[in-house]
Amino acid sequence: ALITADNARAAGASAFNFDEVEAGVDETHHVAAGYDADVLLRWGDALFADSPEFDPAAQTAAAQARQFGYNNDYVGYIPIDGSAEHGLLVVNHEYTNPHLMFPGVVQIVEKDGKKTIEVAPLSKEQIDIEMAAHGGTVVEIRKEGGKWQVVRDGKLNRRITATTEMQLTGPAAGHDRLKTSADQSGIKVFGTVNNCAGGVTPWGTYIMAEENIHGYFSGELPEGHREADNHKRMGVPEGAYEWAAFDSRFDISKEPNEPNRFGWIVEVDVNDPNSVPKKRTALGRFKHEGAESIVAKDGRVVFYLGDDERFDYVYKFVTAGTYNPDDRAANLDLLDQGTLYVAKFAEDGSFEWLPLVHGQGPLTAENGFASQADVLIETRRAGDLLEATPMDRPEDIQPNGTNGKVYVMLTNNTKREEEGVDGVNPRAKNAFGHIVELIEDGNDFAATKGRWEILLKCGDPSVAEVGASFSTATTANGWFGMPDNCAVDAAGRLWVSTDGNSPKATGRTDGLWAVDTEGEARATSKLFYRVPVGAEMCGPLFTPDDQTAFVAVQHPGDGGDDWEGFGRPSYYEDLSTRWPDFKPDMPVRPAVVAITRQGGGKIGV
Ligand code: FEO
Ligand code: CA
Ligand code: CA
Ligand code: CA
Repeated sequence: ALITADNARAAGASAFNFDEVEAGVDETHHVAAGYDADVLLRWGDALFADSPEFDPAAQTAAAQARQFGYNNDYVGYIPIDGSAEHGLLVVNHEYTNPHLMFPGVVQIVEKDGKKTIEVAPLSKEQIDIEMAAHGGTVVEIRKEGGKWQVVRDGKLNRRITATTEMQLTGPAAGHDRLKTSADQSGIKVFGTVNNCAGGVTPWGTYIMAEENIHGYFSGELPEGHREADNHKRMGVPEGAYEWAAFDSRFDISKEPNEPNRFGWIVEVDVNDPNSVPKKRTALGRFKHEGAESIVAKDGRVVFYLGDDERFDYVYKFVTAGTYNPDDRAANLDLLDQGTLYVAKFAEDGSFEWLPLVHGQGPLTAENGFASQADVLIETRRAGDLLEATPMDRPEDIQPNGTNGKVYVMLTNNTKREEEGVDGVNPRAKNAFGHIVELIEDGNDFAATKGRWEILLKCGDPSVAEVGASFSTATTANGWFGMPDNCAVDAAGRLWVSTDGNSPKATGRTDGLWAVDTEGEARATSKLFYRVPVGAEMCGPLFTPDDQTAFVAVQHPGDGGDDWEGFGRPSYYEDLSTRWPDFKPDMPVRPAVVAITRQGGGKIGV
């Protein structure tokens, strides 16, 4: 049976009140009854008064740079004059799918009696379009008559791309290992890539996290190069993209230090559309998932950071200075000074934050760390030496100011063996992931130790071997696998979005689930919204009045590795969905969706 508004109330315990959506798979999206899910921004949509109309058959890089980018991931909302109905939407564009963007680049061919896919090399223009479709968007939006509109002539509207000028700041800025032939200062970088989750700071700047940066680099390092181990630890070069063919900075045989200029947390001052985004080296270099923050009791600001790789770590950064709510400018460089910590979890339910500080413990010259810059450039190796706890792919980490807890999404790790199982990563071959709750000592987000608990082991609870731990009130629609992003709404409730549910993996698409964390209903989950086939669910983000949930539908129509199942060839052939336009001349498009209650009001109450 579905959990309905009525029987949830009767159960008495859940913090959520809506009629659950049925889990499943089809070509479109679905939201709980009584709600509207309106497409707000699609790939190619105009962001400026002068943006060209989107023409998928004749797309250009110049047009793309004035239009909404591809594969929306993080969504943030920065109120204008404190409004919940007028603000700046900030959206990351994580990566591009050329087979869904460009006609004819992917074909199915028969080789040795086996069907396989063949990808044609991209042209220079297509690669320039890819670069312009990466990065982020800042766009003014306004709610009128209960519906959100894009303000195309908003003075602060902006596109950030893989070629936007940026500055490296903080302890590693200017270090020799960040210098290239184009930049002898070690400070001036062009662009940001693979911006996954992110954050909005208490002072209203936009944070973009650089995640899978290894895919953009190709080539081979010169023999015996000092960056060999560093690049290997980051998976550089993976060569998933062909950018090096036309831009030699992505060829590590020519520019061995260029990868060191990616993998950082980027901060954008949205109040000036010409501001130079800052790559804040103090927060370390790894496959940054996101950076959600909260002001601690003493006014320092705490950023929670996941490193999305199997067996990598959970981090946090605590600013040295304190947040000044009355002086925005005074906060603008808070991210350049502070302490980066990595988490070590114990079997007794405690954990410690270990400082990554040059000269402390093993982080010395004998171990190859000549300064704090080296510690930051090779944050992962520093974490290895401190014996941090290897986790099941740390994704979004969300502090909850209402109950003082912190939620860590651990998406999955099928490579964890039985002998590697521990309390905080309790399952071998962890296909469906789990959520860990952190309780910092004294409910102080800046504390250096605390307690942990497993909130949820994900997967189908009706299959005993899976070992999922959803509450018994959770229905067949309510369970999910692969938690990725999450949000805490103004009421302090947890919403989890997923990446990896599919017909094959779980018999359902990804979506947005409401997860109870408190009292009897703890670990009860309900499906609120689900995405079209092939998509993953990113965002999510609630406006400060809890009346809108923004969600990002990423890579709809993509078959991923399961191309024989659905959707791998380009949209001119047999794509499984043309969401959200459903027009023959329009490809499937990633899009941000605004969910509101029909007739107005808070969501899920
Ligand atoms: Fe880009 Fe870790 O998801
Ligand atoms: Ca993610
Ligand atoms: Ca989040
Ligand atoms: Ca993801």
